[in-house]
Amino acid sequence: MKEQLENIKKSATNEIETSKTVRELEDIRVKYLGKKGELTAVLKSMKNLSKEERPIVGQVANEIREALEAALKDKKVALEKSEQDQKIANEVIDITLPAKKVAIGKMHPLDKTLEELSNIFIGMGYEIVSGREIESGYYNFDALNLGKEHPARDEQDTFYITADTMLRTATSPVQVHTMENQELPIRMVAPGKVYRSDEVDATHSPIFHQIEGLVIDKDITFGDLKGVLAEFAKKFFGDKVEVKFRPHYFPFTEPSAEVDVTCVMCGGKGCSVCKGEGFIEILGCGMVHPNVLEMSGIDSSKYQGFAFGMGIERLTMLKYNINDIRLFYENDVRFLDQF
Ligand code: DAH
Repeated sequence: MKEQLENIKKSATNEIETSKTVRELEDIRVKYLGKKGELTAVLKSMKNLSKEERPIVGQVANEIREALEAALKDKKVALEKSEQDQKIANEVIDITLPAKKVAIGKMHPLDKTLEELSNIFIGMGYEIVSGREIESGYYNFDALNLGKEHPARDEQDTFYITADTMLRTATSPVQVHTMENQELPIRMVAPGKVYRSDEVDATHSPIFHQIEGLVIDKDITFGDLKGVLAEFAKKFFGDKVEVKFRPHYFPFTEPSAEVDVTCVMCGGKGCSVCKGEGFIEILGCGMVHPNVLEMSGIDSSKYQGFAFGMGIERLTMLKYNINDIRLFYENDVRFLDQF
């Protein structure tokens, strides 16, 4: 039996020494010292020994158990440490590796234009005002001097919500809110979405963007209007651009004009973009109609002003030679990446 014990000690010690993982070590412990383990079996069979042999073998067996337990414990500590070291070694980060590139989007061309416009007008002392997209008939039409018979009131052009509420068809109603709520003088631009029930095609979208401008002060003349808009056109399209004021009609301004700039494509020679004209229309403007001033509580004998409005999509299409408005809304990165 003593010999059996020595053999157990030998093979257990050997297995402990050569074990590679904490798991393996636990299996060895169960194999020898567990309830059904080899050493446990020997200890159990000691009852068959004589009275004299029992204490001697018992002592040896206990010594072996203690020795094995100690060996298991030491090996466990050693294995745990090397497993930990291994883990740390595996997790080393090579900080000299180049970082993964993060794909960052670009500013949408309409936002780019809006930012440019805002900077130009802020630079001239204008304030940016935001309006509302749902208006009443009074703000969208009446207060802008559009009579009950005006064609824009037609359901074909306007998205009505109720008989007297609608999605604004232009940014012009912001003029009225500003005149009602703000102290004079006024010098503001109001960018935002506008809505018209147009069929979608290369130049029409039921939702698009405009920027409105309004200046009201004493002694404002058409000369001020011309100066501001010519300056704006040069800042936006470049110094070489020529500006033309062409008489036009708008109900809310008198006199009214449309502004043309030399065609950005051909420089004025005439091409397919400007239809041979050499000039392209970019905005509408005029001196604020006295009716409009009076309806908003401004004394038209003391104050005058000018207003203008333009389409942000149109300006962007002209500046970058974009031939289809739908490209702005489709979010195709191949298009958006070019700006
Ligand atoms: N509201 C006009 C439109 O949507 C643009 C416009 C023209 C605005 C003349 C103005 C203006 O303020 O004076 O076509």
